[in-house]
Amino acid sequence: MTSPEFLHACCEVLGPMHVLTAPEDMAPYLTDWRGRFTGNAAAVLRPADTLQVAAIVALCAEAKVPLVPQGGNTGLVLGSVPDGAGNAVVLSLKRMNRIRAIDLVNNTITVEAGSILEEVQNAASKADRLFPLSLAAEGSCTIGGNLATNAGGTAVLRYGSMRDLCLGLEVVTADGKVWDGLRGLRKDNTGYDLRNLFIGAEGTLGIITAAVLKLFPQPRAQVTALVGLNTPEDAQRLLAMAQATCASGLTGFELMSAFSVALVARHFPQMRTGFQDAHAQYVLLEISDSESEAHATAMLEAVVEEAMEGAVVCDAVVASSIAQSRALWSLREHITLAQAAEGKHVKHDVSVPISSIAEFIGQTDTLLQRAFPGCRMVTFGHLGDGNLHYNVSAPETMADETFILHQEAINRIVHDSAVRFGGSISAEHGLGMLKRDEIRRYKSDVELGLMMAIKKALDPHQLMNPGKVL
Ligand code: FAD
Ligand code: MLT
Ligand code: ZN
Repeated sequence: MTSPEFLHACCEVLGPMHVLTAPEDMAPYLTDWRGRFTGNAAAVLRPADTLQVAAIVALCAEAKVPLVPQGGNTGLVLGSVPDGAGNAVVLSLKRMNRIRAIDLVNNTITVEAGSILEEVQNAASKADRLFPLSLAAEGSCTIGGNLATNAGGTAVLRYGSMRDLCLGLEVVTADGKVWDGLRGLRKDNTGYDLRNLFIGAEGTLGIITAAVLKLFPQPRAQVTALVGLNTPEDAQRLLAMAQATCASGLTGFELMSAFSVALVARHFPQMRTGFQDAHAQYVLLEISDSESEAHATAMLEAVVEEAMEGAVVCDAVVASSIAQSRALWSLREHITLAQAAEGKHVKHDVSVPISSIAEFIGQTDTLLQRAFPGCRMVTFGHLGDGNLHYNVSAPETMADETFILHQEAINRIVHDSAVRFGGSISAEHGLGMLKRDEIRRYKSDVELGLMMAIKKALDPHQLMNPGKVL
């Protein structure tokens, strides 16, 4: 339990302005992005630097106060909000937003955990480099949250997830010590991989305070096309064609079902595909090129022409300006917002081998329609890396509130199906509180046992983001 003495000690470390205890001040930190859950906390603490984080964690360790690290609070699995008990503190890293260094020869940027992703992208761009992590929440999510969830996004098929983009970390451990692992090395085989233990741990093993991230050359040109197709099988075929022609030049390959696009058009009427006819599926392709815009466009047009000749694609538009390309991306990035505006739905973040995507969609759609006739599929996502947001909305005749009561049965159908195809029930969002119990069904006792052993070793008093992941 937090005592007045504990809160007083926090004020001594942070200054009283950065120890929030009034309900109205704490409120924005206690509810998740989707508005699905509101927790409770003893205080929200806002440190300004790593030493302050270390001092606060040490105080928590001494007083046995649980800690919930929080970045932009855009996570989708209830990882960044406290439970309802009210005995935890939320540790908001958002004041720690400095860019500490850029090394243009090593191609790295060192940033603090509370840095907003978009600001890191902009800093890289100013230095004529690319930081490639890209996702619709980039204007508000933080590097610490991106690392803690091993975020993916829309450029994974070329650049990988956050784990692939990070070379070094600074972490405050559960007993309040600082591990300075801020190395900018591409090769370092000196024992256990601590960095990759903290990445993806969702704050359950320690607090990430800074990171060394990889930078890449800026592409000379990026061109985008939107195509309409009849089936997910055709989308899978198109991916193979695009990869054969463009190789690593293919930097985006996003699937959107007809209903996903219709939802965006309903809630954001200015966003349209530009096609005269609707199609069952859409794919957004992006090609990045180190030669020239003309070269990139020629490559993309070659893919689209081949696909149209082979009847893989029914309709296509290649963006002819940056504005048009942004508009196409905007359509894709507004699906989550449109779904949120539409009402409650059941969300999934599955991955299966790319070769099984179409079959997964076909079989799972059939199972869901059998169980919930008329349910509407908001299937979209990162087809290029086998990751689908396979979301399910109520049939038109059923209220969202009634439909949502079936969430467990829907999860069972979708997750069992993904696992049958050798897939995962969480590709890029993590487990948080939302999928903590669910994962127990799918991981072996051996795997869960190893995870528990790591948790016990690094956080023996179970104070780091308790109730999440495990
Ligand atoms: P938070 O939500 O604050 O926290 C997420 C988790 O990380 C929590 O468990 C928290 O405790 C922990 N954490 C936060 N900071 C730290 C830290 N410094 N040290 C230790 N633990 C910490 N995700 C994707 O992967 N790909 C997408 O394409 C994508 N698109 C999205 C689109 C929208 C519209 C939204 C709302 C979300 C999307 N997400 C996506 C999910 C989310 O934005 C990402 O998971 C993001 O990386 C979370 O960052 P955050 O700073 O908001 O973290
Ligand atoms: C996305 O790819 O847009 C996301 O991960 C967000 C979502 O799943 O809604
Ligand atoms: Zn996603």
